Amino acid sequence: MAASVTTTDEWQALRKHAETMRGTHLRELFAADRRRGERLTGEVADLHVDYSKNLVTDETLTLLTALAERVRLTDRIAAMFAGEHINSTEDRAVLHTALRLPRDASLSVDGQDVVADVHRVLDRMAAFAERVRSGQWRGHTGERITTVVNIGIGGSDLGPVMAYEALKAYRDGGISCRFVSNIDPTDIHDKTHDLDPATTLFVVVSKTFSTQETLANANQAKTWLLSGLDAEDDAAIAKHFVAVSTNAQRVADFGIDPENMFGFWDWVGGRYSLPSAVGLSVMLAVGPAHYRDLLAGYHAVDEHFRTTPVQRNVPALLGLLNVWYTNFLDAQTHAVLPYSQYLHRFPAYLQQMTMESNGKSVTLDGTPVDHATGEIFWGEPGTNGQHAFYQLIHQGTVLIPADFIAFSRPNHDLGDMHDLFMSNFFAQTAALAFGRTREQVEAEGTAPDVVAHRVMPGNHPTTSIIAPKLTPSTLGQLIALYEHIVFTSGAIWDINPFDQWGVELGKVMANQLAPKLTGDAPDLSDVDSSTAALIRRYRSERGR
Ligand code: F6P
Repeated sequence: MAASVTTTDEWQALRKHAETMRGTHLRELFAADRRRGERLTGEVADLHVDYSKNLVTDETLTLLTALAERVRLTDRIAAMFAGEHINSTEDRAVLHTALRLPRDASLSVDGQDVVADVHRVLDRMAAFAERVRSGQWRGHTGERITTVVNIGIGGSDLGPVMAYEALKAYRDGGISCRFVSNIDPTDIHDKTHDLDPATTLFVVVSKTFSTQETLANANQAKTWLLSGLDAEDDAAIAKHFVAVSTNAQRVADFGIDPENMFGFWDWVGGRYSLPSAVGLSVMLAVGPAHYRDLLAGYHAVDEHFRTTPVQRNVPALLGLLNVWYTNFLDAQTHAVLPYSQYLHRFPAYLQQMTMESNGKSVTLDGTPVDHATGEIFWGEPGTNGQHAFYQLIHQGTVLIPADFIAFSRPNHDLGDMHDLFMSNFFAQTAALAFGRTREQVEAEGTAPDVVAHRVMPGNHPTTSIIAPKLTPSTLGQLIALYEHIVFTSGAIWDINPFDQWGVELGKVMANQLAPKLTGDAPDLSDVDSSTAALIRRYRSERGR
């Protein structure tokens, strides 16, 4: 059993240092160092990252870096990129970084030429996307495909829908996409009721091809399609269904021709799978060239993470900051606030990436952790969030580190609107950091009984991430940035960010309970009294 990271000198030094930092205000830190705002910044590919408004000093960063060295972060990064089986509980390599390697790179893992495999699938996806986009691929009745319905859940949904929304300005092939994920029948009803089956293509995405939600929705889609086309045969399915999966047998059993399947590999975790064939819907919408730009953006950040010393390694530093707040300053949540309407699904996407990865309570060797892990990630696009929950960040009692993400150039430049928008971005991070003192509020002539209410404590940490423009490449860069932040925090916590056993129990129980909702006089004696009573009520309201 390895000794806990909390017993190391480096951890203890950070603990001591945190006591001092608790009494330090960002106002003092900025006053003491006029260049702080330029110094505590980093560049990674096109992303400029300003971490100067965090509750850190140079000493904090030195101590955090020492902690990273103590847990051999650099070796762990090298092990991931080399394809070692770092997902130990599933005995798998973790190689989402290989999905964005250029064609001339070389990487062989477990005897397989990974780069050749990746590009073979990418080329098939591109050829297929071009056929659909050009109208060469036609539906069963000979009509052109105009709508793609992506059916999947978790990593097989959140990545594609987030990227499709983010890259709205790059959609150029006359294909629009919809995304069905929830097994709530209203989801597939809502997304299909106004579609013409003759012009609709379903992309069924499931790594395992055994996920209840996805199979139920795909079966319903099949029924909808065949009845809408008044067809019965497999030929109609072949023209309107393609699959993305690692499991060819299950795809065939479902009735989709393996010729119409795009594969990926067990070394791609669901929440890291967007740059695999899982991104097919996005490629159909924005075209193969934009899709390759997305992959190139990811790769630029991968290379930075793989080769840059921790002191200047932006994802590593941000991952260490998250550890700082979680373990030494007792933060529990982390806000992600994109100042980009097109990134409106980015916080939801990050929730799976961060929380399914680092929501763990045993270390790699199975010992219960003696420190906190996994922050709760949440957020909404600015400025909407400002008029909803920012009040609590400004004047509430909990510490919420926040990432502000923005782009200097808009995708649509309408008068001075983008400048007004960005003035909010700059104002919020400054207000959160520096607040408004009692003296300032009094000097404004505020009524004495209101002064305390108008004092803004400030000292709320933020990181500003600015890119020149939201493009496929900068989107890929942002995603890779967060992937490696998650990796870094997970490495310090000595947990496995690449399994998700916790999600399994609920799936198993749902399958066990399903027959009790529909069958005649089901036996509920093996169900707890609360759940049994709720099921009885549900059955009665369903007239059973
Ligand atoms: O939520 C659990 C999970 O296994 C995720 O990790 C995954 O992204 C999702 O279910 C969907 O799985 P699949 O792609 O196999 O249908």
